Amino acid sequence: MATQDDLKRMAGEKAVEFVPDNEYIGIGTGSTVNYFIKALAASGKQIKGAVSSSKATSALLEQYEIPEVTLSDVIHLAVYIDGADEINHSLQMIKGGGGALLREKIVASASDKFVCIADESKYVSRLGKFPLPVEVIPAARSLVARQLLKLGGEPQLRVGFITDSGNEILDVADMDLSRPLTLEDELNKITGVVENGLFARDAADVLILARAGGVEVIKVGG
Ligand code: 5RP
Repeated sequence: MATQDDLKRMAGEKAVEFVPDNEYIGIGTGSTVNYFIKALAASGKQIKGAVSSSKATSALLEQYEIPEVTLSDVIHLAVYIDGADEINHSLQMIKGGGGALLREKIVASASDKFVCIADESKYVSRLGKFPLPVEVIPAARSLVARQLLKLGGEPQLRVGFITDSGNEILDVADMDLSRPLTLEDELNKITGVVENGLFARDAADVLILARAGGVEVIKVGG
């Protein structure tokens, strides 16, 4: 029987087909993306360079000799490949389980196309079982936590974790995520919030979903 890790590998390997030759691409963070990076290196496919969403991804790019560039070096990215903690049928996502949500959202927003890679456990009809990560300026942590409580959430500090940008993360359980577009904006208006892990504006264009029976490519509207 295929394990979750097998499914992550299958999704990561399939994503190589979505990488155009001789273009700049964006690369996310996480164990599914790690399989993609390995598969991309093994494929011998030539890209001009990759913008990384985290220090962890940059380290792996260096290990596999995939050229890294910064967003200042490029005008646009042909595609962004990344995983998700949850993805719904509109391809809106919760991300940030690995704590890289801020740079992930920045790189995603600079990309022409978002290809999400996930195992079947991530595909849900309603977002919200996975606590929503919210990146906060450390000095504003309590202030933001109080605002999140008022919005009906149960924020919990990710203890001992500092993001690549020097911030903290509040993982928020029990939020009503039935209106992801509105909530994404509302959360970012709270003073002290740097970014939140709802990817509704930057929803995926394509989902590569690995199931026990094989890999499915899903687009909104079929
Ligand atoms: C990191 C993320 C990841 O995409 C998400 O946590 C999924 O990770 P994995 O592929 O390890 O299951 O948002 O910030």
